[in-house]
Amino acid sequence: MVENKNKISENSKGLTFENKLILAPMVRVGTLPMRLLALEYGADIVYSEELVDWKFLKSFRRVNDVLDTIDYLDSSDGTVVFRTCEKERSRVVVQLGTSDPIRALKVAKLIENDVAAIDINMGCPKEFSLKGGMGAALLTQPEKAKSILSTLVQNINIPVTCKIRVFESIDDTLNLVKDLASTGISAIAVHGRTRVERPQHPNRCETIKKIAESLDIPVIANGGSREIENYNDIFKFKEECGSSSVMIARTAEGNCSIFRKDGLKHLEDVIKDYLKLAVDYDNSPSNTKYCVQNMLKELQETPRGKRFLECQTLEQICKIWDLGNYCRQKQLEYHSKGILNRREITPDFLDPKRNKRKADYDSEPIDVVMKCAFIRVNYTADPDLPKSRLITYCGKKKLKVPKYTIFNENKLFRAVALLDGKTYSSSFWEKNKKFAEQGAALVACVSLGLIAKEMLIKDGSMVE
Ligand code: FNR
Repeated sequence: MVENKNKISENSKGLTFENKLILAPMVRVGTLPMRLLALEYGADIVYSEELVDWKFLKSFRRVNDVLDTIDYLDSSDGTVVFRTCEKERSRVVVQLGTSDPIRALKVAKLIENDVAAIDINMGCPKEFSLKGGMGAALLTQPEKAKSILSTLVQNINIPVTCKIRVFESIDDTLNLVKDLASTGISAIAVHGRTRVERPQHPNRCETIKKIAESLDIPVIANGGSREIENYNDIFKFKEECGSSSVMIARTAEGNCSIFRKDGLKHLEDVIKDYLKLAVDYDNSPSNTKYCVQNMLKELQETPRGKRFLECQTLEQICKIWDLGNYCRQKQLEYHSKGILNRREITPDFLDPKRNKRKADYDSEPIDVVMKCAFIRVNYTADPDLPKSRLITYCGKKKLKVPKYTIFNENKLFRAVALLDGKTYSSSFWEKNKKFAEQGAALVACVSLGLIAKEMLIKDGSMVE
């Protein structure tokens, strides 16, 4: 009877960790497109990148009807802290960086209906984590680690896991994992290296095996990427570690199709599959670029790799893999459905008081406003820059050079250009003052017929 009851309560928590292939948590790599790609290829569970608790606590949840996603947006600058969607809901584990049970619980309560489980990072050896008492710092503070885990286990309705590194001493490691398992967590992921060991050190599979033998919760073996080159290697690693499941980081970062039963796909095809998802989920160009860079590795040195490194927009990246049109069409579709991107969300969207304050840039009506982003790579020579073109224009027409007024909110900038008694501005928020001035100048150039609107639409700088 008791056993049955336990089984029911275990099942009611949903996700289980037996016999699973898992995408490991990876900072910047484990964002939505990579997680979905791993699931498409055959991973059973995907971990998010580590997200520090206070980042979540200063975010707010928004349903994104255009992308069909749930977004957690930073309330000071509108950037996406965590984006998820229905496709991964029953299989995504959010990894938290935390040193405090109360903060961890607040985050868990905020997100528990959107994700399948929560993991606590107890392995990160980076100084940032250690200084904050997070990551591997928790390995030497078992009472605090236990308190975080048991607070979560007792108060949320989804499974809780943790990911650790091992100690030199097998006995010390076994004592720790028994302590952690006693909190009622659903599984433990073990990276078989100590806090000071690096990827070139051998993974301590023997220690993982001893852990698996000594615990009655699933153990997820991690740290085997050096030996995992194809699908079968995953199971050799699993067997060597005697674990329930396997979690893969670096091999998947380089070629996510490692999860495919039918074998690895060619890297070119993997990049294309990844880029489509990046476009579909409006992933930021910088994050997309970072992930592709980690796939290309030394191929970045080729002429095509160098061209790729110069890209700044998603469309430019996609063009290199013949997906420029796909990207453009999707972006037009999203814009026509009214997608709000970072520049548009901020600051009006985030700050309800703002309407009352009436910032200067909209207390005086601006004569010409267009949605133009200044994309630096679209201009090869200085005389082509919008501000330079306006100066040339003023010279020819014997007008005073334009004057720019800058407005700054939440670390983003807009400018208004005053030229010949008329004001021009772009409704996009730029990341620095120079770009904001160029954006305003671009609007003036279009309005005066110095740059064709069609050209800007084509190069992705303007939305109709
Ligand atoms: C990591 N790792 C990691 N671990 C973690 O618990 N949280 C994290 O956010 C990250 N971030 C991260 C980023 C990148 C780019 C890499 C390569 C690794 C460590 C990772 O999850 C894993 O434990 C190790 O890489 C060992 O596993 P593999 O690579 O041998 O499969």
